Amino acid sequence: MLKRFLSVSILATSLTTAVADEAALERGKKLYDTPGLCATCHQPTGAGIPGAFPPLANSEWVTGPKENLVKIVKYGLVGEIEVAGEKYNSVMPQSLNAGKPLTNEEISDILTYVRHQYGNGASAVTVEEVETLLTQGKPVNGSVQAADLLDPNTPEEPAAPVEIQPLDTTINNVLPEKVGVGTIGLLLSSIWACLCILPGLTGIGRG
Ligand code: HEC
Repeated sequence: MLKRFLSVSILATSLTTAVADEAALERGKKLYDTPGLCATCHQPTGAGIPGAFPPLANSEWVTGPKENLVKIVKYGLVGEIEVAGEKYNSVMPQSLNAGKPLTNEEISDILTYVRHQYGNGASAVTVEEVETLLTQGKPVNGSVQAADLLDPNTPEEPAAPVEIQPLDTTINNVLPEKVGVGTIGLLLSSIWACLCILPGLTGIGRG
């Protein structure tokens, strides 16, 4: 019973995760457009401002490895960087929301939105991914430099099938239950067999 409850609630959680995507995009857009955050420099259209702020639309960095994006947004970016064939050598400060560093949830929402909106539907960036990528150590100088990042044209590894994970857990939870039912069945039939055979052997109950 507990196992069934567990698997049902795990399924429900995975459904909530799937539905949350639309909500994540909405939260991401709201943050993106917040004065002082991304749109201020990269523009609401993602086109940037030539010579000053690189574009996010048609940027190989946006569709490239998530690791780069998480680090750029978390720590800021300095130094020379080539974006869509143009060179920039400027400073993107660490992003702050109302004076506070962005939380992992906010980074996940913003990047999910940016990659959806300007990255031709590139995959979402989950909170777990942000957490994992940020355990890899802080940049020595406070901000990251393009030279420290992965080549933006590195093909993305096939996305970890995040949705499948809860299903695995479900199967694991259901299986022992099936085994349990089998065992009880076996036990019951042995008792039944004993009840039938014993009187036959001992002669009890014969007219
Ligand atoms: C104050 C202006 C400013 C803000 C605010 C800002 N950026 Fe940037 N961003 C820059 C500049 C300037 C660069 C290039 C830095 C360099 O030359 O090293 C850059 C580079 C980038 C890049 C890599 C190059 C590219 O264009 O693809 C990404 C991705 C990026 N920013 C995303 C964001 C996101 C997401 C936000 C909001 C959380 C944000 N930026 C907020 C100014 C800004």
